[in-house]
Order: sequence, then structure tokens, then C-alpha cells
Amino acid sequence: MAPLRQKAAVVGENGTAVLTEVNVPKVGPGQVLVKVVAAAQNPSDWKMAKELKAIGAVLGLDYAGVVEEVGADVPAGLRYIGERVCGFVKGAEGPSGAFSEYLVGSAKYAVIPIPAGWSFEDAAQIGVAGLTAVLALWEGNTGLPTPLAPTTTPFPILVYGGSSAVGIYAIQFAKLAGLRVLATASSRNFDVLKDYGADEVFDYKDPEVSQKIRAATGGKLRHAVDTISEGSSGAIIAAAFGEDGGHIGQILPYSSPEENVTVKFVLGYRLLGEDFELPWPFKATPEYREHSEKIGKFLAQILALGKVKPMPKLILPKGLASVQEGFDYMTSGKVSAQKITYKIADTPGVSA
Ligand SMILES: NC(=O)c1ccc[n+]([C@@H]2O[C@H](COP(=O)([O-])OP(=O)(O)OC[C@H]3O[C@@H](n4cnc5c(N)ncnc54)[C@H](OP(=O)(O)O)[C@@H]3O)[C@@H](O)[C@H]2O)c1
Repeated sequence: MAPLRQKAAVVGENGTAVLTEVNVPKVGPGQVLVKVVAAAQNPSDWKMAKELKAIGAVLGLDYAGVVEEVGADVPAGLRYIGERVCGFVKGAEGPSGAFSEYLVGSAKYAVIPIPAGWSFEDAAQIGVAGLTAVLALWEGNTGLPTPLAPTTTPFPILVYGGSSAVGIYAIQFAKLAGLRVLATASSRNFDVLKDYGADEVFDYKDPEVSQKIRAATGGKLRHAVDTISEGSSGAIIAAAFGEDGGHIGQILPYSSPEENVTVKFVLGYRLLGEDFELPWPFKATPEYREHSEKIGKFLAQILALGKVKPMPKLILPKGLASVQEGFDYMTSGKVSAQKITYKIADTPGVSA
């Protein structure tokens, strides 16, 4: 039985993170109550805290934990008490978020069973990065093979921002799909990216990066995922395509950098099965809800192949009391091929 009160990191003044005590949220229809064991940090955590200014709202999207209670109207057999699950919720907005001891989230959308062999700390990073990588590859692009039906005639794909969390999952999924994977990162991360399956790696700070990728692919590159989608990323990718242009799956929206380049923006929040206004308005149609459910199942099937590895973790020492430190680390640009992770039981005053 869950307690009535819990420790949580909530939104403070100016988008800061403050450790405090709040009510344990009540499970509603179609939801589960999850005892959170580990949570992982995403750029959205501090961005939404700053943007929404919902002081007192519980922070955190990505979580891994154990189902403690199943709400009304959850289809029989979908979730069960004691199930190890991971996924994401919309933190920084209301009384439930991942940076807490207990959260409520959808029983159906953006939640999957923890893959065999993955610890809670590893699984906490799957929700946002894993699902967004799936979207960027297969909703953001068309005609790509999948790890469930890999191609035997590899063609190139570029993962721009290969050392980001979304990038590391995109590299692994694209490689399992049989593609020839080219990726960009700082040179210090080249070996890391190769370890995750990149065939060729390029430094995005090299002024000739586009020409080098274009030469390596003989002008035949047609597909890319842009896991950065800021600054000159679109222009660098467009210049790496051949004369016929290509297609970019983006994670932040920008207009097409060239006439022969098409772009498609994908957004993880759309998988939550709800309408929302921010960061970009979205109507959760029955068709998109069905699609969201399929995307979750598809990711679970990919992970069940047993070939995807978690990305390196940076576990901060004081659990939820370290969230502000995690925000500072991330906003100062120090995150590099690593996932900031919090073990809830490390929080002062919280027992396992
Ligand atoms: N649309 C969505 O649903 C969605 C979902 C998740 C994330 N996002 C957004 O996607 C972006 C990435 O998120 P994430 O969690 O994957 O990021 P992350 O892991 O925090 O990204 C860190 C990495 O970004 C790389 N990087 C930083 N600046 C770069 C630049 N100018 N060019 C190329 N690479 C650069 C760094 O590479 P090096 O250290 O190798 O230099 C670093 O490894 C964020 O803006 C986030 O808000 C959107």
C-alpha cells in the first residue's frame, strides 16, 4: 500500500528543482501507480520547468519502477501489480512526475515492460530516448527497414548527433535494421559510437564534415535523423546528401534547408495518448492513439531481441536531492554520451 506523502523534486522559481514533500498522486481510470526505482534526466525536464513555470509541479519524464496499483478501466492482462515497467510521463506540469517515489501514468501509452537483463537504472533511460529514436527513424522517415525485418542490401543513413541519448538509440536501431550507419559526434566519442554500431563517424565541428560524408557515401545518402535539430545541423545534413537531396527526421522543427530536402518533425509527447498545447499543440486522434500503442509494442519487440545496450550512465549521488545539480550539469553543456540518472533510494530520507 502506497503512503499518502512522498519526497519529490518539484519546479521552483525560474525553472529550478527543489526537493520537497508532496501527496502521492491518486491512480485514475486507465492509469497505473508506479513505485519509481530510478529516473533519468532529459533536456525536456529543465526546458518544460522554465517554459511552463508550474511552480510545485513534480518534475521528471523518464522512469523505471514497479506497478503498485492498477486503475479502473485498464484492460485485463495489460498491466499487473508487481510488473517491472519503464517509460515516460509528462513531468513539470502537475502532481505526478518521474522525479518522485510514486507516479501515476498511462497503463497503455509510453510504458513498456523492462527488457530482460536491464536494471532499473538502465531501463529508466528507455522511455524518451528509445521511443523518440523509433519515431525519428520510422515516423520521421519512410521506407526504412526495421530490426524486425532487416535489409540484406544495406544503404546509408546518417545519425546526426550520434552521441546524444536519442542518437545512441537511433544508431543501434538503424544498425539492427541492416543499414550502413554514419554518425556525427565530437571526436572523443568516436569509439563509443562505434561500440554502439556506427560504421563510420565524423566530427560535426569539422568545417568539411558534409563533404566528407558525401564522399564516403558517393552522393547516395538519402536518409537522416537529426537528433540535435538546432544551429547548422539541417544545413550540414542537407549538404551531405547527394544531388537528389534526401529526407530528415527531426526532433525539433525547422524548415527544409534545401528545395530537394524534405523534413518531418516527430514529438515523443504525442505518444502519451492525450491532447496538449505545449510545447506544440496536438490532438490525440483515435488513429494516433492506435499508432502510439503500436510504437510502444514495436520498441518492446526491438528490445526483446536482446541486442540493444543501455547508454553510459552518470548516476548522481543523492538521488532526487541531486536534480538541481543534474540541471546545472546539463544546461552548462557538459552532457556527452551519458544519461544523468537518479536512484530514488539514494535520496536522503527515502528508504528502498
Ligand atoms: N522531439 C522529441 O520528442 C524529443 C525527444 C527527446 C529529445 N528531444 C530534444 O532533442 C535534443 C537532444 O536530446 P537528447 O536527450 O538526446 O540530448 P543529450 O543526450 O542531452 O545530448 C547531448 C549530446 O548532444 C551533442 N551535441 C550538443 N550540441 C551539439 C551540436 N551543436 N551539434 C551536434 N551535437 C551536439 C553532444 O555531442 P558531443 O558531446 O559528442 O559533442 C552530446 O553528446 C534536445 O534538444 C531535446 O530537447 C526532442
